[in-house]
Parts: sequence; C-alpha cells; structure tokens
Amino acid sequence: MDINSRKTLSNGVEIPLIGLGVYLSPRGEATASAVRWAIEAGYRHIDTAAIYGNESSVGEGIRTSGISRDQLFITSKLWNDDIRKGRTLEAFKESLSRLGTDYLDLYLIHWPAEGHERAWQVLEELYQSGSVRAIGVSNYHLQHIDELEREAKIMPMLNQFECHPYLSQGPLIELCRQRGMAYESYSPLGGQNGTILSDPKIAEIAAKHNKTPAQITLRWHLQRGSVILPKSNHKERIISNSQLFNFSLSEEEMNEIDNLDRGIRTGGNPDCFNF
Ligand code: A2P
Repeated sequence: MDINSRKTLSNGVEIPLIGLGVYLSPRGEATASAVRWAIEAGYRHIDTAAIYGNESSVGEGIRTSGISRDQLFITSKLWNDDIRKGRTLEAFKESLSRLGTDYLDLYLIHWPAEGHERAWQVLEELYQSGSVRAIGVSNYHLQHIDELEREAKIMPMLNQFECHPYLSQGPLIELCRQRGMAYESYSPLGGQNGTILSDPKIAEIAAKHNKTPAQITLRWHLQRGSVILPKSNHKERIISNSQLFNFSLSEEEMNEIDNLDRGIRTGGNPDCFNF
C-alpha cells in the first residue's frame, strides 16, 4: 500500500484511500494552499461539501496545483436545505460551478434529511448521465439506508460517517460491509477540539513505532478498511498524515485502540440532528 492505493467501489470506480478533509478549513488562501500542499505531497483525493463554504477555494487550489482534473478524485455533498427544498439538481450544478469542474467523482447526500429518498433519485439520474462517477450517502444509520434502498434503483456505493478511536463504529462498519458499501471516516483524528491525539494509549503506541499519534490513529483506520479524510491547514501535518505505509499495527495494538471506544461524538447524531 502507498499514498496512491485505492479501494474499488461496487461499480468498479477506484477511490484513493487518503483524501484531504477540508471541513472547517476557511474559504480563501488557507484552503487553496492546503489543497496544493496535499497534491504536492501525493494526495489525489479531496473531500469537500457545499455547506463547508470553501468549494471555490478547493477549486482554486486544484487549478493552481499543476495536476490535471482527471488525476484527481473530488467529492462534494448535497446540503440538507437543498434536500428539503427539492433543489438537488440546482445544488449539484452550483457545486460544480464553484469547484470549476464539469463532473464529480463522488456526490453524497450529506445527512438523511426529510426528502432524502427523492434526492437520491436525482443522484441516480446524475450518475446515469455521467455527471458523477459514484454516488453515496453520509451520516446514514441502518434505518436511513433502509429508507433509501426501499425505493432506490442504484444502491449507495459508500457511506461516510464520523469515526475515530473514541467512536469506533464497529457495527456500522459491519453493516456497510454487508451491504457492499465502502466506508469513509470523517473526523478521523477526533475533530478540531478532540483529545485523541493526547490519549496516553495512542501516545504509548506512537512512541513504540517512532510515529506521531496522528499517524498511529490514521493507520488504525486504514487497517480496518476505512477511507480516511484527515483535515489540516498545516503543510507539515498534511505531509505526515499521508506517511502511513512504512509500518503496521499489530493485532494487539489494533485491539488496544478499539478498546478506547467511548461513544464520543464531535458532530451531530444522525438519529436526531436538527440542522
Ligand atoms: P490543523 O488544521 O490546525 O492542523 P479531523 O481530521 O479529525 O477533523 O482532525 C482535524 C484536527 O486535527 C484539526 O483541528 C487539525 O488542525 C488537527 N490535525 C490534523 N493533523 C494533525 C497532526 N498530524 N497533528 C496534530 N493535529 C493535527
């Protein structure tokens, strides 16, 4: 495995295992530079969303990176208000325009907001017309997947959800595997105000391998089969967050990290979100 390793989705499209996350990355030069640094470091996958407010800066970073569009895997997400208002097609076109591209590699329903089944039909049409290479969902639990699949012609190829050592999501990962969906971890390091990177057990394992706590945490995700989307606005961190392939965690270390699970969420709960 290396930074360019990919996972094959159910439709045959390959998704790079490491993507740069840009949630809470401010619009403007901060995000554009993060994208350029990531691409320079070898990342080929960027994960944004309409609600992040930085799609145009992601587009700027891509355009000034020197890498051609077809070398990159770009994901964006349909926001809840657009789902509720039934303006999926318009929202998709707005995302394309802000990103400065004419297709997406992956388009996700951001949350299972009211009307998501109807929105999914539009995603299916976008997929069939070739405007997006793969479609999926985010923040979906069993009941949301079931609601969608009842009327779907095409099953979601992927589910993206909050996942890190304090919210390890074992049952949801197992569900995704059973349904043939790839799974992606957002907030893989525990998010902006998380404390995972100072957890004593992670620090102990990091010292043993001479790696950073972030590298240990990200390696744990990869060994569980997750695609990871670490966010950083710092060049050195962006680089080191992708250097995960010259060591591996033992089964015992994997279990030790699994045992840190304490059900701590930094984001909304898909069962009761109100935004
Ligand atoms: P920053 O952007 O200032 O580097 P997540 O990916 O779980 O959402 O976590 C992102 C948070 O962790 C951000 O606040 C980011 O801050 C910080 N972060 C990302 N990479 C590292 C790293 N290698 N070491 C320490 N903190 C990191």
